[in-house]
Amino acid sequence: MVVDASRPIGMFDSGIGGLTVARATIDLLPHENLIYFGDTARCPYGPRPPEEVRKFALEIMDGLAHEDVKMLVIACNSASSWALEDAGARYDLPIVSVIHPGVRAAAAATRNGRVGLIGTLATVTSRSYDRALAEIRTDVEMFSQACPRFVEFVERGETSSDELVAVAEEYLAPLKAEGVDTLILGCTHYPLLSGVIQYVMGEHVVLVSSAKVTANEVYARLRAEGALNPSREPGEHRFIASSEEGISSELGRRFLGPEFGKVEHRPWDRF
Ligand code: DGL
Repeated sequence: MVVDASRPIGMFDSGIGGLTVARATIDLLPHENLIYFGDTARCPYGPRPPEEVRKFALEIMDGLAHEDVKMLVIACNSASSWALEDAGARYDLPIVSVIHPGVRAAAAATRNGRVGLIGTLATVTSRSYDRALAEIRTDVEMFSQACPRFVEFVERGETSSDELVAVAEEYLAPLKAEGVDTLILGCTHYPLLSGVIQYVMGEHVVLVSSAKVTANEVYARLRAEGALNPSREPGEHRFIASSEEGISSELGRRFLGPEFGKVEHRPWDRF
């Protein structure tokens, strides 16, 4: 496919979690233009029924496609779990989701063949990670645990409290009991909780963050498509949120860093 390589990458999440993927992508590809959409008006996606998550994700991707993006990055595990297949059939664009890069990294990292997955209810009940793992390895077992309360902590900027440690201990106990040696952070909000998660799991457990491995995949796919932006100027980054309050600049800067600029307020299908 011949593309105008200066077109932006379109990326979205239900809220601010996908900013962890945006951060990793900007670090690797500082010359790329980026549109990031956080569906803050409808966050969280995790507890919603699959049909609703799928509908929301396709509405947003329609909006991004209308902006003439050169690639879609589904920086949300819940949306990837329920909308990736439909998106592949609907858009003539390269699509990167957070699932397959995370599964490949975990399969490469495990030493005892026992991998844990934590994510939202939407992600865990979809079994999307189990299917992706079965495609590449049948000798690795996966143990999944939904951690529905983690997203609330992150959305209010709470990443280290005693209450959070207590909740993490409860959620992670079954995975510790299974002896997993590798744990996929299967929600883009969770890298912000990696201090607490590593503390509870112990140092011997390898944490796989979907942020970094997804950014690597964005690079690899753009390269394969011949679509890396040749410009040497810093890329332009647009941040859009669907609710009036949007994303606070304090949390935006904490999740993304100094590049986090003004947030535009737009509906989910018109940017
Ligand atoms: N960040 C989203 C994910 O990766 C989930 C947050 C939510 O429940 O909306 O699944």
